Amino acid sequence: MNILVTGGAGFIGSHVVRRLLTNYPNYHIYNLDALTYAGNLENLKDIESAPNYTFIKGDITESSFIHTIFKKHKFDAVIHLAAESHVDRSIYDPMAFVKTNVLGTVHLLNAAKSTWETDYTGKRFYHISTDEVYGTLEDTGLFTETTAYDPSSPYSASKASSDHFVRAYGETYGLPYVISNCSNNYGPNQFPEKLIPLFINNIIKNKPLPVYGDGNYTRDWLYVLDHALAIDLVLHNGKNAETYNIGGFNEWKNLKLVKLLCKQMDKRLGRAVGESESLIKYIKDRPGHDLRYAIDASKIKNELGWEPSVTFEEGLEKTIDWYLANEEWLKNVTSGEYREYYGRQYK
Ligand code: NAD
Ligand code: DAU
Repeated sequence: MNILVTGGAGFIGSHVVRRLLTNYPNYHIYNLDALTYAGNLENLKDIESAPNYTFIKGDITESSFIHTIFKKHKFDAVIHLAAESHVDRSIYDPMAFVKTNVLGTVHLLNAAKSTWETDYTGKRFYHISTDEVYGTLEDTGLFTETTAYDPSSPYSASKASSDHFVRAYGETYGLPYVISNCSNNYGPNQFPEKLIPLFINNIIKNKPLPVYGDGNYTRDWLYVLDHALAIDLVLHNGKNAETYNIGGFNEWKNLKLVKLLCKQMDKRLGRAVGESESLIKYIKDRPGHDLRYAIDASKIKNELGWEPSVTFEEGLEKTIDWYLANEEWLKNVTSGEYREYYGRQYK
C-alpha cells in the first residue's frame, strides 16, 4: 500500500509513521506536513532514511498542490492527522483552525474523491478526530459513537465540522472512509503547550505550574503508542463508514494528575517530597472549559480487540524519562515562537 499520513511530523503522527514503517516494510509511507510550530522532523530522525519513507513538505490548505501529490503518488489510503490541535490557541485565533481543520480537510477529501472515484476498491480515507466533538459531560456518563455532537471551543467546532464533511463525502460521493475519536493523548514528543509536557518542562525549570480554575476538570488519558496501535487496527480492520471511539479507560481530575506528576518528578529528580507540588499556581480559567471527557471504548475493544497496554503510572514514568533524556529537543521547541506564545497565554 501507498499511504499518505498528514501531520506525520507532529506528536501523534510521528508515532503513527514510525509504527507503520516498522510493522509494514512493504508499505510506502508518505508524510505530508507543513512543519508549523507543532511539526518537528526531529521527531522522526531515527527513521528518516528508511527506504519506504518519503517526507513531503506542504500545506493541506493548498488545493492544487494536494491534487498534484495525489496524482503523482497513487495513494491507497490517507490517514489524516494534520490539524491545529491546541484549544487555547483556537480561543486566540479561531480562523487558523477553520483554515487547516475544515478547509484543509475538504481539500484532501476533494483530492481523494477525484483521484479515486473511478474505482474506490481498496481505498480508504481515515480521519483522525477527537472526543471533544461531543462537548462536555457532567460527573457521570461516557461518550459513545452515537453521542450527539456539541462542541464548545473553536478547536472542537472545527474538528466536528471536519468529521461532518468526511461523513458527507461518504454519503454523497461514496468515498470510503472511517473516523476515530480519541481522548487526551500523552507521551514522548508532545509539544509543551499541552498539560503534561508543559508541566514537566516547568517542573524541570522550577517555574510555576499554571492550573486553570480550581483544577477539578476531568480528562481520559491515553498513552500515545496505544493510540498508534488503535489507528493501525482501525486502518486495517475497521468497517467502512464507521466511527470508533478510542479512550484510555483512565479518568483523572487535573489536580490529582498534576499531584501524581509532581510526585514522580520529585522522585526522578531527587527533590524533596512536595517540592514540585509547591509550584502549583491557580490561574484564570480557560473560557468555555469543558468539565469532563470520558470515552466508552467498548466498540473498538469488542470489534477489533484493542486495549491500552500500559497503566497511567507506567506511561507517565516513560514520558518523564523521555523528556529528561531529550532536554535538547525540549530546549529547541521552547525557544522562539514558544516564548511569545507562553508570554501571551500565561501573562
Ligand atoms: P500536533 O499539533 O502535535 O501536530 C499537528 C501536525 O500537523 C504538525 O506536525 C503540524 O506541522 C501539522 N500541520 C498543521 N497544519 C498543517 C497544514 N495546514 N498542512 C499540513 N500540515 C499541518 O497534533 P497532535 O496532538 O499530534 O494531533 C494530531 C491529530 O490528532 C489532530 O487531528 C488532533 O485533532 C487529533 N487528536 C489529538 C489528540 C491529542 O490528545 N493530542 C487527541 C485526539 C485527537
Ligand atoms: O480530548 C482530546 C483533546 O485533548 C485533543 O483533541 C486536543 O488536541 C488536545 O490538546 C487535548 O485537549 P485538552 O484541552 O483537553 O488538553 P490540554 O492539555 O490543553 O488540557 C488538559 C486539561 O488541563 C484541560 O482541562 C485544561 C487543563 N490545563 C491545560 C493547560 C495547558 C491547565 O489547567 N493548565 C494549562 O496550562
